[in-house]
Amino acid sequence: MCGVVGYTGINQAAPWLLDGLQTLEYRGYDSAGIQVVSPSGNLHGVKCAGRVATLRERAASANPVGTCGIGHTRWATHGAPTDRNAHPHLDGTGRIAVVHNGIIENFQELRRELMAAGHTFASDTDTEVIPHLIQEALDGPAKGDLALAVRNAADRLEGSWALGVICADFPGTLVCTRNGSPLVVATTEDGAYAASDVMPLASVTSHVLQLNDYDVATLRADGSIEIRDRNWRPVESPSSFDIDWDASAAKMGGYSDFMAKEIGEQPEAIERLLAGRLGEHGIELDELSLSREELAAIDKIVIIACGTSYHVGLVAKTAIERWAKVPVDVEYASEFNYNEDYLVTDHTMCLVITQSGETADTLSAARRMRGMGCNVFAITNVLGSTAAREADGALYIQAGPEIAVASTKAYTAQMVASYLLALRLALANGKMTLAEVQKHFHEFEQLPDLMREVLSRRWQDKQAAARFRDKTSSLFLGRNVSATTAYEGALKLKEISYLHAEAYPSGEMKHGPISLIESGFPVVAVVPADHVHDKTVSNIQECLARGAVVVAVATDGDEKVAKMCQEVLWIPQCPDQLLVPAISVIHLQMLARYVARDRGYDVDKPRNLAKSVTVE
Ligand code: G6P
Repeated sequence: MCGVVGYTGINQAAPWLLDGLQTLEYRGYDSAGIQVVSPSGNLHGVKCAGRVATLRERAASANPVGTCGIGHTRWATHGAPTDRNAHPHLDGTGRIAVVHNGIIENFQELRRELMAAGHTFASDTDTEVIPHLIQEALDGPAKGDLALAVRNAADRLEGSWALGVICADFPGTLVCTRNGSPLVVATTEDGAYAASDVMPLASVTSHVLQLNDYDVATLRADGSIEIRDRNWRPVESPSSFDIDWDASAAKMGGYSDFMAKEIGEQPEAIERLLAGRLGEHGIELDELSLSREELAAIDKIVIIACGTSYHVGLVAKTAIERWAKVPVDVEYASEFNYNEDYLVTDHTMCLVITQSGETADTLSAARRMRGMGCNVFAITNVLGSTAAREADGALYIQAGPEIAVASTKAYTAQMVASYLLALRLALANGKMTLAEVQKHFHEFEQLPDLMREVLSRRWQDKQAAARFRDKTSSLFLGRNVSATTAYEGALKLKEISYLHAEAYPSGEMKHGPISLIESGFPVVAVVPADHVHDKTVSNIQECLARGAVVVAVATDGDEKVAKMCQEVLWIPQCPDQLLVPAISVIHLQMLARYVARDRGYDVDKPRNLAKSVTVE
């Protein structure tokens, strides 16, 4: 949700800033801008509504010259996505430029105060108060010290921010700070870099430094980085980590879009996740940092997540309750945060599931759970993310960078990670023997090949996608874990094809959604060979009787479904019912992608959405 980049060094800043923004574009893409300062102190900026590609064209003709600069790609919160609301924003004198990710909650009071003091504003954004506050500080108590001026300004802010600041009076100096919004910095031989996440930095370094909330970092052209904490003490050893993937992993390779690439990467993601996880004593999950006794004492788990990760939570609930016999609640983070009546036991464990590790609602919920005395464990894809750093333990799914806004490979990898946790718990609390755990693990090892088989059947999804042409609405059905697959499939379709998709447990359909069905209405029914198969088949009959066109996800050899339904997306037989959600969803991911492409949409950057939602 907004991407921030910054550079100071020996090279021209604009080329890397533009490349960095391109890489960060999945965080927001309704407008973009860069601002550079030349060694002689001239500020030069370009910004516009639209994508980074448009900014590149503008920058090519404007040719901003300077070896220190900042850049921004925006997901609008305050003010429409227009040229004038695009970042960077300047102070009244035009000397200070700021990029910001987050929300300034008290911007109206600050703006009124600044206007009363004679400041004038050029945008509708909350951000614009920040350069004005820095200007006040630089002209007053922080004279001659840009970092201190940024600290003084940040002290006035309420809300969340990751800031990059340059000033014409300090060419070659880039100041960054954060509170609640992610920001990492890196030093190299060519200079120093800052970015919202590691994605753009992977092309220049494999080692990054993390800023804590309220840290202020001063980046200089010689590559040095000085960090001071909230009390203005130097931070001698900031926390740091190595990027564990190659920069090429964040490139499209031979694929036409990131979503296709990431759907196709699922088998390898699962292989990486499972590698080395089965040890002599069961599932190796040292990340949990809980002893066997502590694990055995857990009597309730609350899973907190948003979006696709919430759907992982629903499947995880089934696995944990089935295998470890521990009751599980699954909560939307945004709802949980305002549920004042939530009850925990003395041994409740909180599990947060978050691909990015930066979703603001999920982070707030995790902090609240810690405040309630619970251990917090995170399943995440991003090394060093806030969720991982703040949790008592974190399991990295190692799926590699996920860039398409619609989550695919993180869904299945997080699901399998939650299965590992379920087995670990089941062994610790005696609900499963080591032999049973081993048997399940060996079944998980079949998943990559099962996934490859489904991927090879993508022609079925392409063919079925034609059924959605010219439609405005659709219904997704399934029972038990397949209901969750239906929810996730409907979410995928909504996200990228803008086609309304309602998802319901099949049996509940007759209590409302059935009224939607008329001749030609598309219904997707997830009906694998399981104990509720025949129940769902009856629901399919009810849809067909009302003229629906049914696209079924069914298990190889299911003659009954083949005869009834207009399209079938076939999945191979699975050794365990809980493997089915991880393979049937792949058909629905591909179906959504084909429908969106048929309609001519950008599947990687759907309108209004952002990959990492860092505001509440
Ligand atoms: C956004 C993304 C979704 C994602 C959700 C939760 O809405 O567009 O794809 O599922 O955030 O993200 P998280 O990083 O916490 O899993």
